Amino acid sequence: MIIAIDGPAASGKGTLARRIAETYELRHLDTGLTYRAVAAALLAQGLPLGDEKIAIEIARNLDLAKMDKAVLSAHEVGEAASRVAVLGALREELVRLQKDFAQTPPGAVLDGRDIGTVVCPDASVKLFITASPEARARRRTAEMVSKGQEAEFSSVLDDLKRRDARDSERTVAPMKQAADAHLLDTTEMDIETAFQAAVDIIETARKS
Ligand code: CDP
Repeated sequence: MIIAIDGPAASGKGTLARRIAETYELRHLDTGLTYRAVAAALLAQGLPLGDEKIAIEIARNLDLAKMDKAVLSAHEVGEAASRVAVLGALREELVRLQKDFAQTPPGAVLDGRDIGTVVCPDASVKLFITASPEARARRRTAEMVSKGQEAEFSSVLDDLKRRDARDSERTVAPMKQAADAHLLDTTEMDIETAFQAAVDIIETARKS
């Protein structure tokens, strides 16, 4: 079984993907981390984020098991990730890794922006998780504050909107709800309610 979960930044898709993977005893890949890992390596070497040749080299040597979520979740790495994510040949390299992960038994939950459209178009169930920009900015601000980082709601909101625009307007694999994906708007939901709603959708899809 492969479950594809897409949606914009801070929509709750990461937490939902992790919990769904635990519930169905599947492996989980946060594909955003692969773009973040490439961006972080370029930043660490002081290289331009548009350097596709080196970005591809970094991707070829990427070990999915060694990606450090704590380091990669930094806000500025997310911004840099969405800049490298426009590079088509880099995406091909990362998508290859992501497809390999998805195909390994017993199946997997992948979350990202193009899972239902590009990485796993034949997934058993596809979810597209959204929430209003304001709700997402509130969540991301609270998450950053809880980690001891400085965060101001209005600048987090501006950053999210800019990143949404870049992710949905790029020519290669833009963020888009797949035609056969189930839309889940979590604006008014806490994570527990969203999780229950996601499980209901998965169970209904599995029975049909
Ligand atoms: O956690 P958050 O939603 O803030 O971001 P993320 O899922 O870690 O993704 C960071 C960036 O990587 C996104 O803004 C996208 O530009 C890019 N990305 C992508 O292009 N395709 C994916 N499948 C996953 C992430």
